[in-house]
Formats: sequence, structure tokens, C-alpha cells
Amino acid sequence: MTATPRPQIRPYAAADRAACLAIFRSNLPRYFDPSELPEFEDFLERPSGDYVVVEQDGLVVACGGCYLREGVGRLSWGMVSQQHHRASLGTALLVWRINHLFQHTETPEITIDTSQHTAGFFARHGFRTTLQVADGFGPGIDRVAMSLRREDWLARAQPSPRGATASPGA
Ligand SMILES: CC(C)(COP(=O)(O)OP(=O)(O)OC[C@H]1O[C@@H](n2cnc3c(N)ncnc32)[C@H](O)[C@@H]1OP(=O)(O)O)[C@@H](O)C(=O)NCCC(=O)NCCS
Repeated sequence: MTATPRPQIRPYAAADRAACLAIFRSNLPRYFDPSELPEFEDFLERPSGDYVVVEQDGLVVACGGCYLREGVGRLSWGMVSQQHHRASLGTALLVWRINHLFQHTETPEITIDTSQHTAGFFARHGFRTTLQVADGFGPGIDRVAMSLRREDWLARAQPSPRGATASPGA
């Protein structure tokens, strides 16, 4: 029996574009609305802040980013390939981004716009819902605005990303 390879987190490169678009498409139509694809394509041309990919066994299986907007931390376009859901990759990616923002900036909070399908995932890490707009992203996909306060994150026992490692520079 071979062990599952440890996921590596490294900075996004232009060569990862096709893999990231495939990850987006794998999450249609439950998690993303098709109308969001052009926005993601534009974003990948020039990602804001730090955008990283998670590589496992030589394959890019997840991607996501973080940046500061008006002094507040933001998470952007985080996603795991649908066939790799529930394998702790989303947690590894989220914990990396939260730690990156809170360690490298003074932001008092991190905010995200997500959907009702994943709000529970973020709530597990201390995010609280601040606004919910029915069908905000498209039919059947609400926009759920959530926020994680620095003190709430620091007060929590840090969740373990179960073996993910970060490459230098990620
Ligand atoms: C949300 C997402 C990133 C989670 O990634 P994942 O790799 O499947 O999550 P993990 O395996 O790390 O899950 C960790 C825990 O959260 C739970 N969890 C995972 N997805 C969840 C969800 N959608 N709602 C509630 N809990 C969830 C898991 O059951 C797991 O619990 P366990 O440790 O007790 O088994 C993934 O579902 C995804 O990419 N969705 C599509 C893109 C998207 O909607 N992104 C949101 C930001 S735009």
C-alpha cells in the first residue's frame, strides 16, 4: 500500500491557469454559477495579492488566494477539485491563507464572500455570517458574507492541516 503524497502549497504561476480553470469547472453548478467563469478568468490574468496552488502527486488539485483591501484581509477564489473534496485540502489551503494574512499584516479581520453550500466549512474555523443575499451569485447560490476576527482565530486551538507543507515563497 502506498501512502497518500503530502500536498505542497506554492505560488500560482501562469502555467497553472488551465488546471485552475478545470478546478473551477469541476465545481459547477453547485458551488459556482457559470456566469462567474469570465470573472475568474480575468482574475487569473493578474491575481490580486497572494494566489497559491495546492499540488499533490504532481497535480494541481486546489487553488486560492488572499489580499488586503482597505486594510481588511480578504480571501479570494478558493476551491478544491471536486473529486478531491473532503480530503483535508480545503482546510490546508484555508489555514495557510489565514495564517499568512494574520502573520504578515495588521488586519483585525478576514472577510469572505461564499455560498450557503460552504458557509458551514468556514464557520468551523470561526467565521461568522454578517450578511446573506438569496441567489446573490446566481439561481440557487446565495451570497454569504462572513468574517473572522484576529482575536477569535488566535484564541482557537490551531487546526492541523494534516500534513500539508508549504514551499518557500508560498
Ligand atoms: C469548501 C471547500 C474548499 C472545502 O474543501 P474540502 O477539501 O472538501 O474540505 P476539507 O476536507 O478540508 O474539510 C474539513 C472539514 O470540513 C467539513 N466540510 C467540508 N466541506 C464542507 C461544507 N461545504 N460545509 C460544511 N462542512 C464542510 C468536512 O466534513 C471536514 O470535516 P471532518 O474533518 O470532520 O471530516 C470545497 O468544498 C470547495 O472547493 N468547494 C467549491 C468551491 C467553493 O465553494 N469555495 C468557497 C469559497 S469561494
